[in-house]
Amino acid sequence: MDDVEQFAAATELAEWGPAEIRALAGGADDPFGTGPLGGTWRPKDRHFGVRHEGRVVAHAGFVVVPVEVGGQRFEVAGLGGVLVDPALRGRGLARIAVTGALNAARADGLDRALLFCFPDRSPLYARLGWHALPEAVTADQPDGPAPVPLGAMWKPLSPGVAWPAGPVRLRSLPM
Ligand SMILES: CC(C)(COP(=O)(O)OP(=O)(O)OC[C@H]1O[C@@H](n2cnc3c(N)ncnc32)[C@H](O)[C@@H]1OP(=O)(O)O)[C@@H](O)C(=O)NCCC(=O)NCCS
Repeated sequence: MDDVEQFAAATELAEWGPAEIRALAGGADDPFGTGPLGGTWRPKDRHFGVRHEGRVVAHAGFVVVPVEVGGQRFEVAGLGGVLVDPALRGRGLARIAVTGALNAARADGLDRALLFCFPDRSPLYARLGWHALPEAVTADQPDGPAPVPLGAMWKPLSPGVAWPAGPVRLRSLPM
């Protein structure tokens, strides 16, 4: 039987861009599968990676974005860019990378996180403590607001934090 591999906690990455994404994805053209959706997406500002044998094998990023919902306006950590080396999936690396990003967001004083994902990835995020929002989120696009064509999920980053009821308007490009 194989030993269970132990991975270090995620650390913040100084450099993260198209070249690093391509290398982590093993050269895949559209590693997130979002290409056919079109639309304009926002890069993340903060990047967290798990290193193994000298290279980054998992990544998660976030950008602080404002949302309006139920008459309230607040900032959330917009999580995205979650990507694991294809050869190392299913070993808890997404959990470690996402935890690293959310710990940093919490340390910055944010108490909610938001992400967009395809329905087949939503059980994974549910397992990590995320909750599906019932309706599509409306976000900015270059030619005006439009529904984000992916499911939205949120996660509390502090105890007792709720998500208000009502349509969600993201005052940003989606991440
Ligand atoms: C999606 C992706 C990031 C998952 O990475 P991973 O390292 O295999 O995920 P993990 O092993 O950390 O799984 C996280 C948790 O979700 C659970 N999980 C994984 N798939 C699941 C599923 N289909 N249903 C329910 N739970 C699931 C795991 O058991 C694990 O829980 P545990 O830590 O309690 O055991 C990876 O497949 C990937 O890089 N895909 C391509 C890019 C992509 O789609 N990114 C997501 C964009 S939203």
